[in-house]
Order: sequence, then structure tokens, then C-alpha cells
Amino acid sequence: MDKRILGVLVVFLIILTGCNVLTNEESEGNTDKKRGKIIIESYQDIDKAIKEMTVEEKAGQLIQAERSGIKLSEISDYNIGSILSGGGSVPTDNTPEGWVKMYNAMQSSAGESSSGIPIIYGIDAVHGNNNVTNATIFPHNIGLGAANNPELMEAIGAATAREVRAIGVDWNFAPAVSSAQDIRWGRTYESYSEDIKSVSTLAVPYINGLQDGGIITTTKHFIGDGHTTFGTGEGSNLIDRGDVTVSMEALSEGNLPAYQAAIHAGSKTIMASYNSVAGKKVHGDKALLTDLLREELEFEGLVVSDWEAIQTIAPNLSEQVALAINAGVDLLMQPNNWRDVYAAIIDNVESGEITEERLNEAVRRNVVLKFEAGLFNAEIEKTPGEIGTEENKKIAREAVAESLVLLKNDDILPLKKHAKIHLIGPASDNVGVQSGGWTSSWQGEIDPNLYNGISLKDAMAEVLSNNGGELVEDPADADIVVLAIGEKPYAEMEGDTADLSVDGALSLNGNVDAINQANKSGKPIVTIMISGRPLLVDAYINDWSGFVMAWLPGTEGNGMTDVLFGDQAFKGTLPVTWPKTNEQASDTVNMTMYQSIDHQFKYGDGLVNNP
Ligand code: GLC
Repeated sequence: MDKRILGVLVVFLIILTGCNVLTNEESEGNTDKKRGKIIIESYQDIDKAIKEMTVEEKAGQLIQAERSGIKLSEISDYNIGSILSGGGSVPTDNTPEGWVKMYNAMQSSAGESSSGIPIIYGIDAVHGNNNVTNATIFPHNIGLGAANNPELMEAIGAATAREVRAIGVDWNFAPAVSSAQDIRWGRTYESYSEDIKSVSTLAVPYINGLQDGGIITTTKHFIGDGHTTFGTGEGSNLIDRGDVTVSMEALSEGNLPAYQAAIHAGSKTIMASYNSVAGKKVHGDKALLTDLLREELEFEGLVVSDWEAIQTIAPNLSEQVALAINAGVDLLMQPNNWRDVYAAIIDNVESGEITEERLNEAVRRNVVLKFEAGLFNAEIEKTPGEIGTEENKKIAREAVAESLVLLKNDDILPLKKHAKIHLIGPASDNVGVQSGGWTSSWQGEIDPNLYNGISLKDAMAEVLSNNGGELVEDPADADIVVLAIGEKPYAEMEGDTADLSVDGALSLNGNVDAINQANKSGKPIVTIMISGRPLLVDAYINDWSGFVMAWLPGTEGNGMTDVLFGDQAFKGTLPVTWPKTNEQASDTVNMTMYQSIDHQFKYGDGLVNNP
């Protein structure tokens, strides 16, 4: 079983059995102690402090442990530098109050460590602060790529920052700046576009919005994310964490510009990528993580490894730790075996495998990050804020509206508000399906009422009932049929597929039945697709009078009906090529002869300002 899944299961069991290692201390959260022994007020103070630190204190600073895999007392005993929440790893009390209590207790422990250096806490808030119940869930990146609105991206970054600060957290592992080249990849929906120029255009304002809102950002995953070749996936993966087999020149052209833009925008951390480039794992490749990133791109911030990613780069842990740190990793995301990693760092420094100079450089980057994040202020206790605010929902609703792409319209859209509509399909009434992976759990949930969000059905019923129309059970009573089909939620390698058909393993059960039912009704059909990527529709689209791609819109389903019923015009355009066959899945706008190939739809297609 993939270690990651095992790790998640362990986390799940800990939470399930209530023996969450932080539960007791979390609830006691004794945070009345003054924090910190060293007050750092300048960069010079940092250099001075590092000179006084022991190897043990330095080793602790290079560790990022998972919240459920560490005790409060260990944060102090080991001088731990950082804590993260993996996808779905939340405190027992999953409210801003519960998070802040947990955070303050952790900072209090860090303040009691021998170095007194605070922790920095990181999470994946990749479409809003998806970790927290009733947070505002924004469209996933691929939908934002369809909206292609930089101003909106800055507003989304700012809204996300508000909901991350509301729980006391400092650091968001976002944005991903992958430019997905093959939509069979399970992380396609985390990519804004197959075109790197669009990725840069959208990532920068999002970074600005987050940073201006006081949140540290991570540009990820450096380098080669989205450029791996199908069939080279790590282990049993089809493509995720695979090998980039295109030339370094092609990879640089297709991925580097977004990093240059993000670094120029001041993104302070970069996450290394699981994949290999030309057969060499990025996490162990100094030419990439140091020579290219530091010397060519002049990045001065911190490089964090990905979740247990170092464990695949060398035969044993000691070699993994030495190789990763010497390649350029400054902080090791080792959620559960961090105690062994801690010992391995110390052993490697004592043996000279990791030089004191390299150790100090990595420590400095960690301490500078926390200094620049304002974490050395004497009084650092956080207070809970608001999530799921009306202001943020309004921004998310607008993002949904702008993300919808109208791909076929035989004079049937916008829908009439007084119509009798028969709504069917497995994606019609499920906020979990609308939200996809990286929501209440790492893989996402098929949960109709996730976070009290608004489903397509909720939103349609609201509009119709206010305008003399209605949703009707019997298609015979309907003017038209609206068919909602799509994909199951997934994340990362679990979303890799060789089959993009609507009845593939990752497609929702019931897609084909619903398509057949709609056809049997004899009524005009408008199909809405709710999925993380284009699915193959060539066999069905001729039976549809209208076709709309809604991507993974999240909780604000009323953004869909704003456009479907004509209150707003369609403006979305395709950020990825829409294949007619699985074999076309890796076709992108940048390929030669692109225009001569018979795709379902082209990059940039969309009937805009329609009607
Ligand atoms: C994951 C992802 C990365 C995420 C990290 C922490 O495996 O690759 O995007 O930030 O772990 O959850």
C-alpha cells in the first residue's frame, strides 16, 4: 500500500480512536507562558543566534512534522522548526477556535525549547481554506484558468488569506504552477492551464493576494510538475511523480517562467517536486535545486521537500537526508519519521556528509522565513477569525460564474427562469463532487451537503421557485432536461487514469444511465460537466442542445446558475485542450500541427458573451 495512504490511514485511526496525540494537551493548551528565549529583531540577530545554536537545535529547525505525529512536548524537546497539516488532518475541534488553540499551544511549546525559535505552520489551502468545516471553497485552479481573470485571482488570494489567518496558520502550500501537459494526470485540476504564460499571469496576483494578507506562499512543485510522461509514474502510478523525458530546454520553456514570475513576486518558499527529470529524482538533484534555482533564478527563499518525497531518492534514510539537504532542500517534510530524520541530520553533520556551512545555510533560511513572517514578535498568540464569510462567498460565486465554459448552444441557453426543468445526473446535487479533492479530506468526499455548500440543484431550485418555474420529477412534464455528469473526487496519484470516458473508473457512477435517461425523455438536453478535467463526450454531444463545462466549482453553486439563467454572460474559455480520444490526452496548444488535429475543442474555445 502506498506509504502516503498508510500515513493517512494512521492519521484517520488516531482521529477516529480519539487518541489524537494533541487532544489532551490541545484542550489544556497552556498558552499563558511568555514565548521565546531569543528575540530576533534584525537579520544580524539571526546570524548571531545561529552561531550560538547547537547541532541538535539546528537539526530540529530542518524538520517539518505532521500535527498528528508529534506531541507538544516534542516540539520543545527537539526544537522543531515547522508543523504541517496533511490533507484532511485537522484538530478535533475543527473550528477557528480549535485551530487557534492548537496553534497557540504549539507555539508555546516552541517558545519553551532551548533555542526558543517559533514554529511555522503550513497547510494546503488550495481552493480556499479547504481544511476547515464550512470554509468557502473556491473553484479549483483549472476553473480559475478558464476564468482567466488576474484581478479575481488577487481577490481570491486575499480571501484565502483571511480564512487561513482566521485559524492562526502562517503558511499556505500554494500556488501550484504546474502547466498540465497530459490531462490523464491526477493533478490536472490543480493546474491553471496547459500554457505556462497563463499560469504565470494567474499565479502572481494570487501570490500577491495571499502575501498582502500576511500568508507565506509556496510555489510548487519545482520542477517538472505536469510535464511527466504517461506510463512513467512512480510505482503503480500511471503518470504522477513520473519522469520528465522532454529536453531540459523544453522543460525550462514550459515550466520555468512561472517560477521566475513567482520569485519576482516575492514568493518565499518553493516546494520540490516528486518527479524525476531525465531519470533523476528532483529531490536529490543539486543541479536543479541549487544550480538552477539559486544561481540561475536567484531564488533566496526556502526549499521545502514534499511529503516523504526524500524516501525514494536513496536506499536508506541517512543517505536520503544527506542527499536531499546537500541538493538544496532546507526543510524536510517528514510527517511521521521525523525523529529518525532528526538523528540522521545530526549523524550526517558529525560525519561531515552535511557540512556545518550547509547546515547553517538551511537553518538561516528557516529562521529568516519565520522572521519575515513576523513570528518572532514577543506576543504571538493568535485569535480566531471568521471563515465562510459573505464577502468571501461573493468572491467565490463570481469566480464560479466566470469559470463556466459554454461549448455548445443551439439556442437553448440561457435557461428560462419560468421553465419546468427535469434535472438528472450524479453531479446534480452533491457539493462534495463540486469540490473535488483537497477538501474535507485529502481525496475529497462524495458528500451532498459538504460544508453547507450550494449544489447545482439547490441553486436551480432557488432561481426557478422565485420566477414561476420549477424542477419537475417527471421528464414528461418538463420543457427541457438538464443533465449533470462528472468525476468522483480524487487527489494526486489517485486521479491518474488511462480512461477519460464518462464511464471510466474515476467517472461518477450513473453518468451513462443519466445520459441514456435524458435521451429517452425526448426533450432538449443541456449537459453540465462537473469534473477536474475534460472527459470524452464525442459519442454523446450530438444529442445535446447545450453543453457547459463547470470544472470543480466548490461550495458556491449559485455562481453556476448566475450564468446558466443569464444574469451573467458566459466568459470562460478552455485552459486545456479537449481531446476526442484518450490518445489525444497529451495534446496541447504548444505542439506543432495543433490546429490540424481534430480535437473535441481547442485550447481557448468558449462561446463568450453568449447570449
Ligand atoms: C502532497 C502534495 C503537496 C502538498 C503536500 C502537503 O503530497 O504533493 O502538493 O503540499 O503533500 O500536504
